[in-house]
Amino acid sequence: MRIRPETPTDRPAALAVTEAAFASRASGGRTVEAVLLERLWESPAYLPALSLVAEDDDGAICGYVITTRAHIGQVPSLGLGPIGVLPERQGQGIGRLLLEESIARATALDEPCLVLLGSPLIYGRFGFVRADERGVLPPEPAWGADFMVRALTGAPLPTGNFRYAPPFDAL
Ligand SMILES: CC(C)(COP(=O)(O)OP(=O)(O)OC[C@H]1O[C@@H](n2cnc3c(N)ncnc32)[C@H](O)[C@@H]1OP(=O)(O)O)[C@@H](O)C(=O)NCCC(=O)NCCS
Repeated sequence: MRIRPETPTDRPAALAVTEAAFASRASGGRTVEAVLLERLWESPAYLPALSLVAEDDDGAICGYVITTRAHIGQVPSLGLGPIGVLPERQGQGIGRLLLEESIARATALDEPCLVLLGSPLIYGRFGFVRADERGVLPPEPAWGADFMVRALTGAPLPTGNFRYAPPFDAL
């Protein structure tokens, strides 16, 4: 298994992985997450270095994660997600590899933090903590404990209202 940045030729596979990973939450038709991906790829918020595929030894793409430019107040920040792994490959450590590589690459880029919406049961294992208690406020107050931040440096976190990349607003 290899984690590497996505290239444009990986996009059909990244979409297929995302569709499959989120299909059980969709009410028929395409998943919101796959539509979002297409918009993020076309957005100025797209960061090629933080768009990662998990590639099997035989070259098959079985996981995908995207992290895009976001803001906390006026300070540039990062929003992680969607992240997805093929249903038949879940629970085998692939999501962990994608998350760890996202954290390592964002840290190397000197980014202050990563922000995401997800289950504390999963992301708490990777150093994510409830964001509003650190002064990073969710776009939707109801997100509560599911809205999380992961500091990447020793510096104090930026604080204020978090804004995802504009394509998230159109969901
Ligand atoms: C969430 C997802 C990306 C995780 O990928 P994965 O390859 O299945 O996860 P891993 O096997 O690498 O597990 C990573 C860690 O999270 C934990 N974990 C994974 N799914 C979990 C769940 N549903 N509940 C609790 N813990 C979970 C694992 O136990 C593991 O921790 P450990 O290594 O300390 O045991 C994947 O399951 C998926 O695509 N789900 C459907 C789409 C989705 O929900 N995406 C995330 C939306 S926020």
